[in-house]
Amino acid sequence: MTDQRQRTALFFDSGIGGLSVLREARVLMPDWRYVYVADDAAFPYGAWEEDALREHMTALFARLLDDYSPALSVIACNTASTLAIDHLRAVFPGETFVGTVPAIKPAAERTRSGMVSVLATPGTVKRQYTRELIRQYAQKCHVRLVGSDNLAAMAETYVRGEMVDEEAVRREIAPCFREEDGRRTDIVVLACTHYPFLVNRFRKMAPWPVDWIDTSEAIARRAQSLADTMDTQPGRPEGPDLAVFTSGKPTPELGRLMQGFGLTIA
Ligand code: DGL
Repeated sequence: MTDQRQRTALFFDSGIGGLSVLREARVLMPDWRYVYVADDAAFPYGAWEEDALREHMTALFARLLDDYSPALSVIACNTASTLAIDHLRAVFPGETFVGTVPAIKPAAERTRSGMVSVLATPGTVKRQYTRELIRQYAQKCHVRLVGSDNLAAMAETYVRGEMVDEEAVRREIAPCFREEDGRRTDIVVLACTHYPFLVNRFRKMAPWPVDWIDTSEAIARRAQSLADTMDTQPGRPEGPDLAVFTSGKPTPELGRLMQGFGLTIA
Protein backbone atom coordinates (compact mmCIF):
# COMPACT_ATOMS: atom_id res chain seq x y z
CA MET A 1 0.00 0.00 0.00
CA THR A 2 1.22 3.49 -0.79
CA ASP A 3 -0.22 6.82 0.25
CA GLN A 4 1.45 8.55 -2.67
CA ARG A 5 -1.03 10.63 -4.58
CA GLN A 6 -1.29 10.77 -8.32
CA ARG A 7 0.07 13.83 -10.09
CA THR A 8 -3.21 15.65 -10.42
CA ALA A 9 -3.24 19.43 -10.05
CA LEU A 10 -6.50 21.25 -9.51
CA PHE A 11 -6.66 24.83 -10.77
CA PHE A 12 -9.45 26.95 -9.38
CA ASP A 13 -11.00 30.28 -10.32
CA SER A 14 -14.41 31.90 -10.50
CA GLY A 15 -14.23 31.77 -14.29
CA ILE A 16 -11.67 31.72 -17.06
CA GLY A 17 -8.98 33.77 -15.26
CA GLY A 18 -7.06 30.81 -13.89
CA LEU A 19 -6.38 29.61 -17.43
CA SER A 20 -3.69 32.29 -17.58
CA VAL A 21 -1.89 30.40 -14.79
CA LEU A 22 -2.73 26.93 -16.09
CA ARG A 23 -1.09 27.57 -19.46
CA GLU A 24 2.19 28.47 -17.70
CA ALA A 25 2.00 25.46 -15.38
CA ARG A 26 1.50 23.08 -18.28
CA VAL A 27 4.85 24.14 -19.72
CA LEU A 28 6.65 23.68 -16.41
CA MET A 29 4.87 20.51 -15.26
CA PRO A 30 4.06 18.51 -18.39
CA ASP A 31 3.80 15.19 -16.56
CA TRP A 32 0.87 16.30 -14.43
CA ARG A 33 -2.82 15.89 -15.11
CA TYR A 34 -4.94 19.03 -14.78
CA VAL A 35 -8.45 19.61 -13.53
CA TYR A 36 -9.57 23.17 -14.15
CA VAL A 37 -12.52 24.28 -12.03
CA ALA A 38 -14.46 27.41 -12.93
CA ASP A 39 -16.98 28.36 -10.26
CA ASP A 40 -19.04 30.13 -12.89
CA ALA A 41 -22.26 29.59 -10.94
CA ALA A 42 -20.86 32.08 -8.40
CA PHE A 43 -19.12 34.52 -10.79
CA PRO A 44 -18.09 37.27 -10.13
CA TYR A 45 -16.29 36.63 -6.83
CA GLY A 46 -15.35 40.32 -6.65
CA ALA A 47 -18.88 41.26 -5.66
CA TRP A 48 -19.37 38.71 -2.82
CA GLU A 49 -19.57 39.43 0.90
CA GLU A 50 -16.49 38.02 2.62
CA ASP A 51 -18.09 35.58 5.08
CA ALA A 52 -20.50 34.19 2.51
CA LEU A 53 -17.74 33.64 -0.07
CA ARG A 54 -15.45 31.95 2.46
CA GLU A 55 -18.24 29.56 3.46
CA HIS A 56 -19.18 28.91 -0.13
CA MET A 57 -15.59 28.09 -1.11
CA THR A 58 -15.06 25.80 1.88
CA ALA A 59 -18.12 23.72 1.01
CA LEU A 60 -17.13 23.60 -2.66
CA PHE A 61 -13.55 22.52 -1.86
CA ALA A 62 -14.78 19.72 0.39
CA ARG A 63 -16.53 18.29 -2.67
CA LEU A 64 -13.73 18.99 -5.17
CA LEU A 65 -11.01 17.43 -3.00
CA ASP A 66 -13.19 14.39 -2.56
CA ASP A 67 -14.02 14.09 -6.26
CA TYR A 68 -10.54 14.64 -7.73
CA SER A 69 -8.00 13.96 -4.90
CA PRO A 70 -5.49 16.47 -6.28
CA ALA A 71 -1.94 16.38 -4.92
CA LEU A 72 -1.86 20.14 -5.42
CA SER A 73 -4.59 22.80 -5.55
CA VAL A 74 -3.79 26.16 -7.10
CA ILE A 75 -6.20 28.94 -6.17
CA ALA A 76 -5.65 30.86 -9.39
CA CYS A 77 -7.73 33.80 -8.24
CA ASN A 78 -6.61 36.81 -6.19
CA THR A 79 -10.12 37.51 -4.90
CA ALA A 80 -10.43 33.98 -3.52
CA SER A 81 -6.84 33.65 -2.27
CA THR A 82 -6.68 36.94 -0.38
CA LEU A 83 -9.87 35.94 1.37
CA ALA A 84 -9.65 32.22 1.96
CA ILE A 85 -6.20 30.68 1.42
CA ASP A 86 -5.31 30.63 5.14
CA HIS A 87 -8.77 29.35 5.98
CA LEU A 88 -8.59 26.53 3.41
CA ARG A 89 -5.18 25.48 4.72
CA ALA A 90 -6.60 25.34 8.26
CA VAL A 91 -9.75 23.43 7.31
CA PHE A 92 -7.96 20.94 5.01
CA PRO A 93 -4.60 20.46 6.74
CA GLY A 94 -3.58 17.42 4.66
CA GLU A 95 -3.84 19.35 1.40
CA THR A 96 -1.33 21.49 -0.47
CA PHE A 97 -2.59 24.87 -1.66
CA VAL A 98 -0.83 27.45 -3.80
CA GLY A 99 -2.31 30.94 -3.59
CA THR A 100 -2.32 33.97 -5.86
CA VAL A 101 -1.87 37.33 -4.19
CA PRO A 102 -1.27 40.81 -5.60
CA ALA A 103 2.37 41.27 -6.70
CA ILE A 104 2.92 44.28 -4.45
CA LYS A 105 6.40 43.26 -3.31
CA PRO A 106 7.91 42.91 -6.82
CA ALA A 107 6.18 46.14 -7.86
CA ALA A 108 7.68 48.03 -4.91
CA GLU A 109 11.12 46.64 -5.75
CA ARG A 110 10.88 47.58 -9.40
CA THR A 111 9.22 51.01 -9.45
CA ARG A 112 11.42 53.98 -10.26
CA SER A 113 8.87 56.71 -9.73
CA GLY A 114 7.57 55.20 -6.47
CA MET A 115 4.04 55.31 -7.86
CA VAL A 116 2.36 51.94 -8.24
CA SER A 117 -1.24 50.97 -8.95
CA VAL A 118 -2.91 47.67 -8.14
CA LEU A 119 -5.72 46.81 -10.53
CA ALA A 120 -8.01 44.20 -8.98
CA THR A 121 -11.60 43.28 -8.22
CA PRO A 122 -13.53 45.30 -5.61
CA GLY A 123 -13.16 42.30 -3.28
CA THR A 124 -9.36 42.17 -3.50
CA VAL A 125 -8.88 45.89 -2.90
CA LYS A 126 -10.98 45.69 0.28
CA ARG A 127 -9.05 42.79 1.80
CA GLN A 128 -7.02 43.13 4.95
CA TYR A 129 -4.54 40.74 3.28
CA THR A 130 -3.89 43.26 0.48
CA ARG A 131 -3.46 46.15 2.94
CA GLU A 132 -1.03 44.04 4.92
CA LEU A 133 1.07 43.37 1.79
CA ILE A 134 1.33 47.13 1.23
CA ARG A 135 2.23 47.73 4.86
CA GLN A 136 4.93 45.05 4.77
CA TYR A 137 6.51 45.67 1.39
CA ALA A 138 5.54 49.01 -0.08
CA GLN A 139 5.66 51.59 2.68
CA LYS A 140 8.00 53.77 0.68
CA CYS A 141 5.71 53.83 -2.35
CA HIS A 142 2.45 55.50 -3.21
CA VAL A 143 0.18 52.53 -3.85
CA ARG A 144 -3.20 53.20 -5.39
CA LEU A 145 -5.75 50.38 -5.15
CA VAL A 146 -8.12 50.37 -8.11
CA GLY A 147 -11.12 48.07 -7.83
CA SER A 148 -12.86 47.42 -11.12
CA ASP A 149 -16.48 46.27 -11.18
CA ASN A 150 -16.45 45.28 -14.83
CA LEU A 151 -13.06 44.11 -16.10
CA ALA A 152 -13.37 40.46 -15.05
CA ALA A 153 -16.64 40.15 -16.97
CA MET A 154 -15.09 42.00 -19.91
CA ALA A 155 -12.22 39.48 -19.94
CA GLU A 156 -14.77 36.65 -20.00
CA THR A 157 -16.43 38.31 -22.99
CA TYR A 158 -13.11 38.81 -24.74
CA VAL A 159 -11.88 35.23 -24.43
CA ARG A 160 -15.23 33.97 -25.71
CA GLY A 161 -14.34 35.80 -28.91
CA GLU A 162 -16.83 38.65 -28.52
CA MET A 163 -16.16 42.37 -28.92
CA VAL A 164 -14.90 44.39 -25.99
CA ASP A 165 -15.58 48.13 -26.00
CA GLU A 166 -12.18 49.86 -25.91
CA GLU A 167 -13.62 53.05 -24.43
CA ALA A 168 -15.03 51.01 -21.55
CA VAL A 169 -11.56 49.48 -21.02
CA ARG A 170 -10.07 52.97 -20.97
CA ARG A 171 -12.55 54.09 -18.29
CA GLU A 172 -11.80 51.08 -16.10
CA ILE A 173 -8.02 51.48 -16.19
CA ALA A 174 -7.94 55.32 -16.11
CA PRO A 175 -7.79 55.61 -12.27
CA CYS A 176 -4.52 53.62 -12.32
CA PHE A 177 -2.67 56.53 -13.93
CA ARG A 178 -1.53 59.36 -11.65
CA GLU A 179 0.77 62.26 -12.20
CA GLU A 180 2.09 64.22 -9.22
CA ASP A 181 5.03 66.60 -8.80
CA GLY A 182 6.53 65.56 -12.10
CA ARG A 183 6.33 61.86 -11.25
CA ARG A 184 3.89 59.39 -12.66
CA THR A 185 2.71 55.82 -12.22
CA ASP A 186 5.19 53.43 -13.80
CA ILE A 187 3.84 50.05 -12.66
CA VAL A 188 0.36 48.54 -12.68
CA VAL A 189 -0.06 45.20 -10.92
CA LEU A 190 -2.56 42.89 -12.62
CA ALA A 191 -4.07 41.60 -9.39
CA CYS A 192 -6.81 39.53 -10.97
CA THR A 193 -6.04 36.45 -13.05
CA HIS A 194 -8.63 37.49 -15.62
CA TYR A 195 -6.72 40.64 -16.55
CA PRO A 196 -3.68 39.20 -18.40
CA PHE A 197 -6.11 38.23 -21.18
CA LEU A 198 -6.84 41.94 -21.68
CA VAL A 199 -3.31 43.27 -21.30
CA ASN A 200 -2.89 44.14 -24.96
CA ARG A 201 -6.04 46.27 -24.73
CA PHE A 202 -4.70 47.87 -21.57
CA ARG A 203 -1.45 48.73 -23.34
CA LYS A 204 -3.32 50.24 -26.23
CA MET A 205 -5.64 52.35 -24.07
CA ALA A 206 -3.07 53.47 -21.46
CA PRO A 207 -2.28 57.23 -21.44
CA TRP A 208 1.44 56.41 -21.13
CA PRO A 209 3.51 53.19 -21.12
CA VAL A 210 3.83 51.35 -17.81
CA ASP A 211 5.05 47.94 -16.71
CA TRP A 212 2.05 45.61 -16.30
CA ILE A 213 2.99 42.96 -13.72
CA ASP A 214 1.44 39.59 -14.44
CA THR A 215 2.09 36.91 -11.82
CA SER A 216 0.89 33.88 -13.80
CA GLU A 217 4.36 32.51 -14.44
CA ALA A 218 5.53 33.12 -10.87
CA ILE A 219 2.53 31.20 -9.51
CA ALA A 220 3.19 28.35 -11.89
CA ARG A 221 6.84 28.29 -10.74
CA ARG A 222 5.72 28.17 -7.12
CA ALA A 223 3.44 25.24 -7.96
CA GLN A 224 6.33 23.51 -9.72
CA SER A 225 8.73 23.99 -6.83
CA LEU A 226 6.19 22.51 -4.40
CA ALA A 227 5.45 19.69 -6.83
CA ASP A 228 9.17 18.88 -7.01
CA THR A 229 9.26 18.28 -3.25
CA MET A 230 6.23 15.98 -3.26
CA ASP A 231 6.30 12.24 -3.07
CA THR A 232 3.81 11.53 -5.85
CA GLN A 233 3.25 8.47 -8.03
CA PRO A 234 5.62 8.84 -10.96
CA GLY A 235 4.21 9.50 -14.42
CA ARG A 236 1.17 11.36 -15.64
CA PRO A 237 -2.10 9.80 -14.47
CA GLU A 238 -4.42 8.27 -17.08
CA GLY A 239 -7.25 10.29 -18.53
CA PRO A 240 -7.76 13.66 -20.18
CA ASP A 241 -7.31 17.04 -18.54
CA LEU A 242 -10.72 18.25 -17.42
CA ALA A 243 -12.68 21.47 -17.20
CA VAL A 244 -15.38 21.53 -14.54
CA PHE A 245 -18.05 24.25 -14.51
CA THR A 246 -20.03 24.55 -11.31
CA SER A 247 -23.04 25.78 -13.29
CA GLY A 248 -22.97 22.45 -15.11
CA LYS A 249 -23.78 24.20 -18.37
CA PRO A 250 -20.96 26.12 -20.07
CA THR A 251 -21.90 27.92 -23.27
CA PRO A 252 -20.71 26.41 -26.58
CA GLU A 253 -18.14 29.26 -26.85
CA LEU A 254 -16.71 28.34 -23.46
CA GLY A 255 -16.68 24.70 -24.47
CA ARG A 256 -14.63 25.59 -27.53
CA LEU A 257 -12.30 27.77 -25.47
CA MET A 258 -11.65 24.89 -23.07
CA GLN A 259 -10.97 22.55 -25.99
CA GLY A 260 -8.47 25.12 -27.26
CA PHE A 261 -6.73 24.77 -23.90
CA GLY A 262 -6.76 20.98 -24.31
CA LEU A 263 -9.41 20.48 -21.63
CA THR A 264 -12.37 18.10 -21.84
CA ILE A 265 -15.60 19.31 -20.25
CA ALA A 266 -16.40 17.04 -17.30
N1 DGL B 1 -10.00 35.86 -11.41
C1 DGL B 1 -10.42 36.43 -10.18
C2 DGL B 1 -9.23 37.12 -9.46
O1 DGL B 1 -8.08 36.82 -9.73
C3 DGL B 1 -11.61 37.32 -10.03
C4 DGL B 1 -12.76 37.42 -10.94
C5 DGL B 1 -14.09 37.60 -10.19
O2 DGL B 1 -14.44 38.70 -9.77
O3 DGL B 1 -14.75 36.58 -10.03
O4 DGL B 1 -9.41 37.93 -8.60
